[in-house]
Amino acid sequence: MAIERTLSIIKPDAVKKNVIGQILSRFEGAGLQIVAARMTQLSRAEAEGFYAVHAARPFFKDLVDFMISGPVFVSVLEGEGAILKNRDLMGATDPKKADKGTIRADFADSIDANAVHGSDAAETAAVEIAYYFPALNVYSR
Ligand code: PPS
Repeated sequence: MAIERTLSIIKPDAVKKNVIGQILSRFEGAGLQIVAARMTQLSRAEAEGFYAVHAARPFFKDLVDFMISGPVFVSVLEGEGAILKNRDLMGATDPKKADKGTIRADFADSIDANAVHGSDAAETAAVEIAYYFPALNVYSR
């Protein structure tokens, strides 16, 4: 399987719960390496830009309001099959539907406050990584 990079965001709810370290441990425990990271407070414009693909969805404003409600921890994870591996670790978007032992099952409260974001495909990962870490080369080997 190819070595990939994917973008992860630990969302404001999980930052407030003080579980950044526990979530990062799950990434590392699954063989993913953190190759870039920063804690940041997103502006409304940054959050709207990041989620522009969802602009027409009914929950867009709620999603943006939530993502700017506190600091987030943004990182780039690298490893074999990193995109799918991270999605598996995260669990389903709605924590009520997330498999036992996944990050969302363990740390998320609702579909609005669901603890983590992860890129869903290689093309999205490239765009998302460049959005937050423009100086980082995106590659898979
Ligand atoms: S996914 O993971 O992209 O396939 O999920 P999707 O259902 O398309 O949701 C896209 C992002 O919107 C968030 N979302 C919501 N936010 C607020 N309220 C409601 N009802 C809601 N439903 C979905 C979801 O968490 C996804 O955000 P990210 O940051 O990509 O996980």
